[in-house]
Amino acid sequence: MPILELQGVTKTFGGLTAVNELSFEVQKGDILGLIGPNGAGKTTVFNLITRHLNCTGGKVIFQGHDITNVRMDKIISFGIARTFQGSRIFRNLTVLEAMLTACYSKRKTGLILDLLNSARAKNEMQQHTEHAIEILKFIGLEERKNDQAGNLPYAHQSLVGIGMALVAEPQLLLLDEPIAGMNPQETLETMELIRKINGRGITVLLVEHNMTAVMGVCNRIVVMNYGEKIVEGTPGEIMEHPAVIDAYLGSGFDARAS
Ligand SMILES: Nc1ncnc2c1ncn2[C@@H]1O[C@H](COP(=O)(O)OP(=O)(O)O)[C@@H](O)[C@H]1O
Ligand SMILES: [Mg+2]
Repeated sequence: MPILELQGVTKTFGGLTAVNELSFEVQKGDILGLIGPNGAGKTTVFNLITRHLNCTGGKVIFQGHDITNVRMDKIISFGIARTFQGSRIFRNLTVLEAMLTACYSKRKTGLILDLLNSARAKNEMQQHTEHAIEILKFIGLEERKNDQAGNLPYAHQSLVGIGMALVAEPQLLLLDEPIAGMNPQETLETMELIRKINGRGITVLLVEHNMTAVMGVCNRIVVMNYGEKIVEGTPGEIMEHPAVIDAYLGSGFDARAS
């Protein structure tokens, strides 16, 4: 059984069909690349999976359950976490504080206990802090934990976004252009991090423009253009496919970008 399945998913915005009858499967353990020119519909696909947007048609199945119409706030507890393209949501927080905000969705102790400053709430905060620091070590940012997140180099901010998604210990992680704006060294490190995340048993769905990264880390790739799947295959098959070359050349996409 695939961990995630899209069945004929469609999304229209007024007269624009952003995603058109899209079907693909993600197998447990995959690092599946979702690529395509700007405006192809990749981020919209993420928004449909995580329920930030409603599907106009079709179904999204996660671990055998139809999640097409579940509430957005349930998605994380089902085991799906994501990063946001170019996200800057934690500008005024320290790195550790940003990580702790992500712990919120996992909290069992209510606000009233915080107000009472109970031992239980303190104990829980202690556990969250330890968990957050363990993840910061994992992503290589422990030494930055007291830095203002918004002042970090862009590459590190992108990693904090990944760390915040990992707090929920997801089974499926959606990464939306995590490498954008990184230099070659940071790109290599982030590719290695994606492999390490996958090594923890987390299935990854990766949207990324950097073809070196996509070809280097993904075991399968789905190529979209104008909201539709045009090809699916291994990196080797994708590289050689005429439709892929056409789609990218036709849109000015630079397949050599790094
Ligand atoms: N919330 C929205 N409202 C209207 N149009 C949107 C919205 N989100 C995306 N679009 C449009 O849908 C198309 C696909 O966008 P997007 O999914 O962001 O593409 P990609 O991530 O592949 O670059 C684009 O034409 C975009 O302008
Ligand atoms: Mg996008």
